[in-house]
Amino acid sequence: MASGSDLSRLKEQVASATDIVVLTGAGISADSGVPTFRGKDGLWRNFRAEDLATPEAFERDPRLVWEWYNWRRELIAAKRPNPAHHTIVELEQRCRHFWLITQNVDGLHRDAGSQKLSEIHGNIWMVRCTVCCHVFENRDVPVQIPPKCHDCGGLLRPHIVWFGESLADEDLRRSYAALRSCNLCLIIGTSGLVYPAAGFASVAKEFGAFVAEINLDSTSQSPLVDVSLLGRAKDIVPLLLDPIQ
Ligand code: OAD
Repeated sequence: MASGSDLSRLKEQVASATDIVVLTGAGISADSGVPTFRGKDGLWRNFRAEDLATPEAFERDPRLVWEWYNWRRELIAAKRPNPAHHTIVELEQRCRHFWLITQNVDGLHRDAGSQKLSEIHGNIWMVRCTVCCHVFENRDVPVQIPPKCHDCGGLLRPHIVWFGESLADEDLRRSYAALRSCNLCLIIGTSGLVYPAAGFASVAKEFGAFVAEINLDSTSQSPLVDVSLLGRAKDIVPLLLDPIQ
């Protein structure tokens, strides 16, 4: 668990920051019951995310990839934002300059009310036509396989950034601009293994921000952050807004 003095230091930073960036990963949604990618419960039929979340896997077997997404859709549809998601909304409302960068595709930040955000890996409730590239919302659970585009009849895929694909230019531009200008960067519930997000903490640090990590365990980012608080996001993040004693 976090040491009291580290928590106090971070609360002071939160209280005085005028420009905050929050980066989240699967750990924040774990507290809402969504399995993380690299935890034991993240496996589906013994496949890892890296085996299924690729353009090659989809080309080889779109049905299998859609079955995996249907499993994830069903799981996520029943989940609600937790106190950590809600605290991030409050930070957004209190702080003059704020940006949330999430790697999560579950949409729980939007459900909580976050508005200033980049969903850099996409959103599970959006689909894209592999032929005409039309992007639209699809909340079906399950999606009928194979899903077809209403416009051109082409095969639909999840509108998610898969391994080996590039993030949207606009998301990268906004994220790096926010990381370069912030004075506080909070890294919550990410293993820090997937780039470019894994490099975001060091960008914020290089540009002078106070960087803090909140995670159940130490990660590859822990040595470079100013404060590392160990514990559940849903327990620790709300404490950041408690009055300073
Ligand atoms: P990971 O599954 O790699 O890591 C989850 C992190 O959350 C780990 O460091 C855990 O220790 C931590 N954690 C678990 N439960 C927690 C809790 N209750 N409170 C705080 N921390 C907790 O997930 P990501 O880092 O998000 O990409 O993975 C990054 C990307 O890899 C994902 O966006 C996804 C994946 O493959 C794509 O799908 C493209």
